[in-house]
Amino acid sequence: MTARILPSLLSADFANLQAAIESVPGADGLHVDVMDAHFVPNLTLGLPVVESLRACTDRFLDIHLMITDPDTWAPRYAEAGVQSVTFHAEAVTAPIRLAREVRRLGARSCLAVNPATPIEPYAELLGEFDMVLLMTVEPGFGGQPFLDVVLPKIERARKLIDARGGSVWLEIDGGVSAETIERAAAAGADTFVAGSAVYDAADPDAAIRRLRELADRSEPQEGAS
Ligand code: DX5
Ligand code: ZN
Repeated sequence: MTARILPSLLSADFANLQAAIESVPGADGLHVDVMDAHFVPNLTLGLPVVESLRACTDRFLDIHLMITDPDTWAPRYAEAGVQSVTFHAEAVTAPIRLAREVRRLGARSCLAVNPATPIEPYAELLGEFDMVLLMTVEPGFGGQPFLDVVLPKIERARKLIDARGGSVWLEIDGGVSAETIERAAAAGADTFVAGSAVYDAADPDAAIRRLRELADRSEPQEGAS
C-alpha cells in the first residue's frame, strides 16, 4: 500500500493559498484546518474560504473541523463539494446521524479523536466512517512535537479496522516529519497530515516524496502483532 500524504494548509501562506496548492502536485490532497477559537484556542478559516478553495481546484480536500458545533456545520462543508469532512468525537452530539448526513451529501465521513481520547468506545461505529483521525498533537497549532504516547492507540486502531475487514483510512495529524513518520507508519497509520514539514521545506513537493518513501518502507508487516 502506498501512504497518502496530505499537506496542511495551516502552515502555508494564507494570502496565497492557490500557490500553496500548486506547490505540491505530488500530494494526495490538501488538509484544511477549520478552527473556531472555542474548541481549540486558535482561529483560522471557515466555509467561505473552503468554497473558494473548492472553486480553484478539483483536488482532494480533507476538511478537519476543530469546532464546537460540527452537527450544524459539517453538512455545510459536505454541500460545498469537498471530498472528506472530519469532525471531533469530543464535540459531536450525534455522531451516527452526522456521519450518515455527511455521506448522504457526497463526502467521506471521518471521526477525529484528541490524544487523550480512546478509540475503543467508537469501535462499533467504524462502519459509519471512511476514515479515523488520531491526533498526534493537542489540536490548535502547527509545528508542535509529535506525541509518541499516541503510538499504542495507532496500533489498536489498526487492529480494530483490520478486524472489520473494511477499508477505513487511518490518518494521523500533528508533528509528522521525516523523523517521526516511520514509527507512525509501522504502528499502522496509512494517511499522514504534514504541515510544517512540508511548507517550511525549501522544496515542499520533494518533502512529500520523502515522507511517502519513509512511510512506505515502514508499513506494518502482515500478521505482525
Ligand atoms: C493542528 C492541525 C494540524 C496542523 C499540523 O491542530 O490539525 O493539521 O496543521 O501541523 P504540523 O504538521 O506542523 O504539526
Ligand atoms: Zn488538522
